[in-house]
Amino acid sequence: MRLRLAGAVLLSAAAYYVYLPLPSGVSEPWKLMLLDALFRSFMQASDVAHALGVCHRVHLLNRVVSWVEVIEARSSAAVHVADSTLGGVPTRVFEPSGGSRPKRGVIYFHGGGWALGSGRMRSYDLLCRKMAEDLDAVVMSVDYRLAPEAVFPDQYHDALAASRAFLSAQVLQRYGVDPQRLCVSGDSAGGNLAAAVAQELSSDDTLQVKFKAQALIYPVLQALDFHTPSYQQNQAVPILYRPVMARFWLQYLGADSSLEPLLLANNHSSLDQPGISAEARSRLDWTGLLPAERRKHFRPLVRETGSAGVVGRVPGLTDVRAAPLLAERGVLGRTPKAYVMTCEFDVLRDDGLMYGRRLQDAGVPVTSDHYEDGFHGCMVFAYLPMMSDVGWRSMNNYIRWLDQNL
Ligand SMILES: *[C@@H]1O[C@H](CO)[C@@H](O)[C@H](O)[C@H]1NC(C)=O
Repeated sequence: MRLRLAGAVLLSAAAYYVYLPLPSGVSEPWKLMLLDALFRSFMQASDVAHALGVCHRVHLLNRVVSWVEVIEARSSAAVHVADSTLGGVPTRVFEPSGGSRPKRGVIYFHGGGWALGSGRMRSYDLLCRKMAEDLDAVVMSVDYRLAPEAVFPDQYHDALAASRAFLSAQVLQRYGVDPQRLCVSGDSAGGNLAAAVAQELSSDDTLQVKFKAQALIYPVLQALDFHTPSYQQNQAVPILYRPVMARFWLQYLGADSSLEPLLLANNHSSLDQPGISAEARSRLDWTGLLPAERRKHFRPLVRETGSAGVVGRVPGLTDVRAAPLLAERGVLGRTPKAYVMTCEFDVLRDDGLMYGRRLQDAGVPVTSDHYEDGFHGCMVFAYLPMMSDVGWRSMNNYIRWLDQNL
């Protein structure tokens, strides 16, 4: 009896911990709750370790993630897998064993807020392996440096160095890759790096070889507005909560985490910030860039006066290499055809939707793939902690788009 009672108490405590009210319409809510409970317990454990001075929270998180998720480079009959370097940056290379030559090529940047994750994690390993196999493509998954040790523009520079090497005659020849069939891709913070790299390299006239396509999965593209409709609507939707994204940005830009409340109040993009031009503002003005069905009843938060001098102290906020949505139309117009995947239940939804719209306005062919039941991270966590339906659907559609467009 006592045992049964203890069991019931424990069970309800666990259910209380896991349970989270989710918006109706999100795909398989219980799976998302479990994934979130997993993330939250890791986060809380690392917060405690951080507070006790044991180690930086990101280090503990990365240690746990490595322990649970990092796997050796294991080849299968279909795909040869090896850890190597690309332009001096550690990279896991997936080479299909059979098939024809020359092959397609994809360079991939993993997500994790520029601070977490690795191309050697099981989830990314599985994704890249599947891409290599299904597309008969050589896939290179880049382990750029991470925050807090590395901050902007280190991650960007690593992504760029790896991409330049990827486009070089030497690498293309060595792996038997077709210079006409190359794609740059990534998810979340990796989608940010992919977009930034696509802009920089398509505007570089010294390059002989260019990307044919860019595929951006729920990318993060701007840090000036934390009150887009999707930031407002999904601020409490797992796994990427609004304050967590603000913290990732501050860490990436090498700014103090104490600025978080200020960012969340949009005090850094108030009208009295001299560092933000009217043109820059128009590039993320969602009242014009988003369709009515996404704007819904939400109102923009634009302050007359904010916190003086923030943009001067954190110059990355207005740097296009950190925030690709701020690029001018001419630069966007030179980038390759694009696939932009977005999820309804994601604070970053509108970053992606606005970017897709601006690319299209600049004359770039864009496939906008929106998941009405999707949540941030769903594609990569298709396998974690269990098979997710929207994860599978989105992964298959992403690979199908590459198959038809690369
Ligand atoms: C935002 O700016 C206003 C006006 O300068 C100020 O009163 C307020 O305290 C600031 N809020 C934060 C969170 O910094």
